[in-house]
Amino acid sequence: MMRGAIHYSIVILLIFLCGSGMSVSRTESLLHEWCGIFLFLCILLHLIGNRKWFTQMTRGRYNAVRCVITVTDLLMLVMIILIAISSVTISGYIFAPLGLGGAAWGRMIHFAATAWLLVLTGFHCGMHMKIEKRNVFLYLAGAGGVIAFIICRFYERLLLLNAFAYTPDLPSWTVYLLHALMFAAFTMIGSECRRFAAKERSDT
Ligand code: HEM
Ligand code: HEM
Repeated sequence: MMRGAIHYSIVILLIFLCGSGMSVSRTESLLHEWCGIFLFLCILLHLIGNRKWFTQMTRGRYNAVRCVITVTDLLMLVMIILIAISSVTISGYIFAPLGLGGAAWGRMIHFAATAWLLVLTGFHCGMHMKIEKRNVFLYLAGAGGVIAFIICRFYERLLLLNAFAYTPDLPSWTVYLLHALMFAAFTMIGSECRRFAAKERSDT
C-alpha cells in the first residue's frame, strides 16, 4: 500500500517536473523546486525500502536480466546525484541564498540528467511491472509516446544537442501529457524486455 503510493508519487512528480521545468511562469518555478525536493524524499523512501539491494549487489550470480536491472538502477542513482548537485546551483528560490548563482554547467547537467531520469525510470518501472498479458492501453500510450518524443525533440535533451529545452508551442497541459506518453513508451520498452527475457528462460 505504502509502496504503491510511493511508486505513484514518483511517477506523477517526475512527469510534472519534466514538463514544468520547461515553463517560464514564476509561480510554477517555485512549485517546481518544492516538488523536486519532495520527489527526492520519495526516492529516498523507495531506496530505504529496497536497502537490501545495496548489500546484496555483490552476492549471487548475474544473469542478463539482473545485469540490465542493476545497470539501470546504478545509472538512475548517478542521474539523481547529478540532479541534486545541479538543482542547488541553479535554484532561483530555495537554494538561491547560498549564492551558488546559476552556473551554466549546472543548467546543462540539470537539462540532460532529468531527461535521462525520465527514460531510465520508465524502463525501470516496465522491468519491474509484472504484466502477464499484453496491455493494449500501454501499447497505445507508448505509440503516442514515440510521436511525443519527436514533437518535443526529446533526443535534443538526451544528447545535449541544444542549450535549452525546445518547448512546443502548445498549452502547458499538453506538454505534461506528452511527457506522460513518453514515460509510457519507456515503460512499454521495459516491460517488453522483461517479457522477452522471461520467454527466453522458459524456452531453454
Ligand atoms: C527515480 C527513481 C527510482 C530509483 C532510483 C529506483 C531504484 C530502485 C532500486 C535500487 C531498487 C532495488 C533493486 C531492483 O529491484 O531493481 C528498486 C526496486 C523497485 N522499484 Fe524502483 N526506483 C525508482 C523509481 C521507481 C518507480 C517510479 C517505480 C514504479 C512505478 C519503481 C518500482 C520498483 C519496484 C516494483 C521495485 C521492486 C521492489 C519494490 O516493489 O519496491 N521504482 N528501485
Ligand atoms: C528530479 C527532480 C527534477 C526534475 C525531473 C527537473 C526537471 C527540470 C527540467 C526538465 C528543466 C528544464 C531544463 C531547461 O530547459 O534548461 C528544469 C529546469 C529548472 N529546474 Fe528542475 N527538475 C528537478 C528538480 C529541481 C530542483 C530540486 C530544483 C531546485 C531546488 C530545480 C530547479 C530548476 C530551475 C531553477 C530550472 C530552470 C533552469 C533555467 O534557468 O533554465 N529543479 N528542471
